Amino acid sequence: MKLVGSEFELMKTFVERNCGIHLEPGKEYLVETRLADLAIELGCRSFLEFHSTALADTTGKLKGRIVDAMTTNETYFFRDDNFWTYMREVGVPELLRKAASGPVRVWSAAASTGQEAYSVAMLVDETARSMGKPHLAGSVEILGTDISSAALFLAIAGRYDGLAIRRGLSDERRRRYFREDGSVWAISDEIKSRVKFRRFNLMDPLGALGGFDLVMCRYVAIYFQEDFKKDLFGRIAQVVRPGCALILGATETLRGHSEEFEPALHKNCTAYMRKTSR
Ligand SMILES: C[S@@+](CC[C@H](N)C(=O)[O-])C[C@H]1O[C@@H](n2cnc3c(N)ncnc32)[C@H](O)[C@@H]1O
Repeated sequence: MKLVGSEFELMKTFVERNCGIHLEPGKEYLVETRLADLAIELGCRSFLEFHSTALADTTGKLKGRIVDAMTTNETYFFRDDNFWTYMREVGVPELLRKAASGPVRVWSAAASTGQEAYSVAMLVDETARSMGKPHLAGSVEILGTDISSAALFLAIAGRYDGLAIRRGLSDERRRRYFREDGSVWAISDEIKSRVKFRRFNLMDPLGALGGFDLVMCRYVAIYFQEDFKKDLFGRIAQVVRPGCALILGATETLRGHSEEFEPALHKNCTAYMRKTSR
C-alpha cells in the first residue's frame, strides 16, 4: 500500500500525539513499511482510511498496535562500555552503599525488551557478592517501563533467542544468570524477581512512579522534538532524588534541555547529577 500526499502528515501527527515520536519529512518509507501490513489486515484501502479507522478506535487497541509498529526497540545487554564502566565503578557501588540502610530504586525509562534493566540487576548481584554482602542486591528495586506492549511482553518473559543472548553478554554471565530452555535462554528467577516491568508512556505525568536513586533514559529522547525533550527532562528531574544520577545514551546530551542537573564525567561517561538545591 502506498502512502500518498497528505497521508504522511496525518500519520505523522497521529504518531507524535500518541507517543511523542517525531517523523521528519523523508520518513514516509518508515510509515509505509511499518504500517502497511496492519492497514491491509484491517481491510483499509488507503492510509487515509487507516487513519480514520485509527481515530475512530475507542478501545485503544489499534493505537497500541500503531505505536508498537512505529517504535524502534533496538537494545542489547550491557550496551555502551563507558556507561557500564561508570555503573561498575560508581553507580552500582553507590546504590549498594545506600541499600544498606533501606531499599533503593532504579528506573530504566525506555526498557524495550528488558536487556538494560536485567543488565543492571546482574551487575548489582555481582557487585553485592564481591562486597561479601549478596543480600544487599535484594534491596535494589529495578523498574523497567516502555510504551510498547510487544517489547514489554518479551521483557517480562525474560526469554531471549540465540541472537539476543549473544549481544553484549559474556559466556560467564550467560552461564551464571540464564538457563537454556530449548532454543531460548531464560533469565534466572532470582534476577527476574528483582526487576518489575510496566507499560508507561513518557508523555504521561511521572509522579505515580515515585522517586528514583538512578534513572536511565537512553536512546529514546533521540526520537522526540526539542520541546518534548525539555518537558520530559524537566519532569524526570522531579523524580530523580537530589544528588542522584540521570544517564542518557552515549550520543545524547542534556545541554540546553534542563538546568536541574550538573554533568559529572567519569572516564568517558557523563552522569547528570540532580542538583541538591534549586
Ligand atoms: C531504542 S530503544 C532503547 C532501549 C534501551 N534504553 C537501550 O538503550 O538499549 C527505545 C525504546 O523507547 C520506547 N519508547 C518510544 N517512545 C516512548 C514513549 N513515549 N514512552 C515510553 N517509551 C517509549 C520504544 O518502545 C523503545 O522500546
